[in-house]
Amino acid sequence: MAQRAVPLVKPAPSSPPPGSPPVTVESAAILNALPEPVFVIDEAGCFRAVNHAAEQFFDSGAAALVGRRIRDLVPADSPLIALIDQVRATGSSMSEYGITLETPRIGSHVISAGAAPIAEAPDCVVVSVQQLTIAHKIDQQLTHRGAARSVTAMAAMLAHEVKNPLSGIRGAAQLLERNASADDLQLTRLICEEADRIVGLVDRMEMFSDQRPIERSAVNIHQILEHVRRVAESGFARGRRIMESYDPSLPPVYGNRDLLIQVFLNLVKNAAEATAETDGAIILTTRYQDGVRLAAPGSQARVHLPLLISVQDNGGGVPEDLRPHLFDPFVTSKIGGKGLGLALVAKIVGDHGGVVEFNGEPRRTVFSVRLPMAPVSRELE
Ligand SMILES: Nc1ncnc2c1ncn2[C@@H]1O[C@H](COP(=O)(O)OP(=O)(O)O)[C@@H](O)[C@H]1O
Ligand SMILES: [Mg+2]
Repeated sequence: MAQRAVPLVKPAPSSPPPGSPPVTVESAAILNALPEPVFVIDEAGCFRAVNHAAEQFFDSGAAALVGRRIRDLVPADSPLIALIDQVRATGSSMSEYGITLETPRIGSHVISAGAAPIAEAPDCVVVSVQQLTIAHKIDQQLTHRGAARSVTAMAAMLAHEVKNPLSGIRGAAQLLERNASADDLQLTRLICEEADRIVGLVDRMEMFSDQRPIERSAVNIHQILEHVRRVAESGFARGRRIMESYDPSLPPVYGNRDLLIQVFLNLVKNAAEATAETDGAIILTTRYQDGVRLAAPGSQARVHLPLLISVQDNGGGVPEDLRPHLFDPFVTSKIGGKGLGLALVAKIVGDHGGVVEFNGEPRRTVFSVRLPMAPVSRELE
C-alpha cells in the first residue's frame, strides 16, 4: 500500500515574528536530534513517520518501520496501544506513566508516553516516549538515601540503649559463673555469647551512624578494583572467573579509597555468593558516560556523575520480592545473611554524591555505581 507522506510537524515559518531569532533548522532535523523516540501512527495502526531515537528504540530502520503495524512490535493489550486508540477516539492529547513494554524484539523497558492528535493529518497520532531507566532509578536511589538515614538514627539509639545494659548483663553472668554448677555454667556461657553477638550487630550498625563528611581525594578506581579482585580471588570468590572490561583512560574518581573498597567488596561478594563455584563469572566494567547530573545532597548544586563502574554476574538474580527494597537494611535472602551489604553500599555511594542502580535480566545481574570525577585543578574542596 502506498504511503502518503505526512511531515512530522509543520515546517517553521520562513519569516519569524519580529524580535525572535531567525529559525533555520528544519523540523525533521529537530525531531531527529531529540533523545526521546517520537513516531506517528496512522488510522490503520501503522507507523507513518519515525525519528532517529524511535528507530533505535524499535531496533529497526525507518524504511522497515514505516508502513508496519505497531501491533507487530508491541503486544495488542499494551497500555501504549490503548493510549493511541483513546487519543484517536477522543481527539485530545493524553499521557500514560510507568508502562512496562515487554517484547522479544526490544526487551523490557519501563516508559512514559505522551500522545496527541495531529490537526493536519486526521486520524494520525503522534507519540513521544520517555524511557524511565535513569530518572526512575535515580528516584529510587534517593529513597535509598532516606533508608540509610533512618538506620543512622536507629544505630545511634541502639548504641546508647543496648550496649550499656548488655555489658551489665554480661558482667553479672560472669559473676554468677564463679559459683555455678556445671549445668548452670552452660547457661551463663550462653548469656555471654548471646550478649557478644548483639554487641557485634550493634557495632556493625554503628557504621551507619557516622555522619562526618568523608575525606576525599583523586583516586584511581582501577587500583581499587584490582585490590578487591585480589581479596576476592583468594577468599570468598574462589573458583569464579573474574573478568575486566576497563576504560584505561578513565579519569580519577573524587572519592575515599577505603570506603570505595568496601563498596566494591560488598558488590563482588554478593556476585560471588549468587554464582556457582563451577561456572560463576563476574565482570568488572568501567566506562565514561556523560549525561547524568544529580542534585547534591543538601544543596542546589548539581553533581556531574560521568564515571560508571559496574559489577555483573551470571547467577540466579535477585529474588523478585526483594527488588523494591533491595537497598534497605536487613533485607536478605541468605541463611545467616545480615542484609547490611547493599544498605552500606547505598550509604557510601550517597555520601560521595553518587548513585547505585540495579538491573536484573536472566543470568545477568548488574549493579552500577555512578561517581563524580576528581576536579582537574589541584584545589580539591
Ligand atoms: N549479585 C546478586 N545476585 C543475586 N542476588 C543478590 C545480588 N546482590 C544482592 N542480592 C540479594 O540482595 C540481598 C541483600 O544483599 P546484602 O545487602 O549484601 O545482604 P546479604 O548479602 O547479607 O544478604 C541478598 O540476600 C540477595 O538476595
Ligand atoms: Mg552481601
